[in-house]
Amino acid sequence: MAESPEKTVMLDIDNVVKRFGGVAAVGGFRMKVREATVHGLIGPNGAGKTTLINLITGLFHADEGTIRFAGHDLQKMAPQDIAALGITRTYQNVRLFSGMSVLEQVMTGCFLEKKSGMFASFLGLPSARADWRRIRDHSMELLRRVRMDHRADELAETLSYGEQRRIEIARALGSNPKLILLDEPTAGMNQAEASEIGRLTHELRDAGLTILMVEHNMGLVTEFCEACTVMNFGQLLADGDPRTCIANPDVQEAYFGRKNDATRIQALR
Ligand SMILES: Nc1ncnc2c1ncn2[C@@H]1O[C@H](COP(=O)(O)OP(=O)(O)OP(=O)(O)O)[C@@H](O)[C@H]1O
Ligand SMILES: [Mg+2]
Repeated sequence: MAESPEKTVMLDIDNVVKRFGGVAAVGGFRMKVREATVHGLIGPNGAGKTTLINLITGLFHADEGTIRFAGHDLQKMAPQDIAALGITRTYQNVRLFSGMSVLEQVMTGCFLEKKSGMFASFLGLPSARADWRRIRDHSMELLRRVRMDHRADELAETLSYGEQRRIEIARALGSNPKLILLDEPTAGMNQAEASEIGRLTHELRDAGLTILMVEHNMGLVTEFCEACTVMNFGQLLADGDPRTCIANPDVQEAYFGRKNDATRIQALR
């Protein structure tokens, strides 16, 4: 699938540097993500992909460079202000609350406008109960979207990793984001579950969301991503059409350490 050049750039990362001690985890990286696309971010372990997500979401601040989102300069913005602009994420290691049901996990992510105040919530007044019902109904709708509504009342920790990752996506969608950053959303999943996530990214994109997905499953990237960026040692190695990126000899070498090994190249496809 080719990237649509006419789509507006939603996220623009330019010459970003992030150092930890003497190591540049991100070393002058740049990439553009266009609106309403599924964009794959790939690269070997330690390339700097998660650090980049941490920079976009304001968990860390870049030492150099700029990150712009829909006309806003994200540098030095607090995570909650970046979230309020419409950026949300999931984590490489699933982060759900223990002791909470699937539905409650998703409800914690809902930033719906509340019509009642704290006082009404404290006293359990009808306006507060109406807020609670709206959030619950919206959360059930999000669970339907990720096909987890049948598990709504179960404890999240009793579910498989694949199911927990889908709950995390539903929770992230609760803030009505414009851009969702998925950090290895299919880790620990079998191929059928991974394809289900791929289809979900298309549904979200068709609803107008932009998806940046860190992914090691190359089959998924070529099947579902319209654009791809390859990161290596904190820097841009290649970008463009996913198939072309993955076939790039420099990308093959970055993953496997040497070129022209037909068996290993096959494994990436
Ligand atoms: N908080 C931190 N403090 C110090 N070093 C860090 C920190 N976070 C990341 N790093 C270092 O930055 C580099 C990039 O790590 P990062 O987790 O971003 O890579 P990644 O591409 O997400 O790798 P993986 O595919 O294994 O998840 C690594 O060398 C890592 O050890
Ligand atoms: Mg990572």
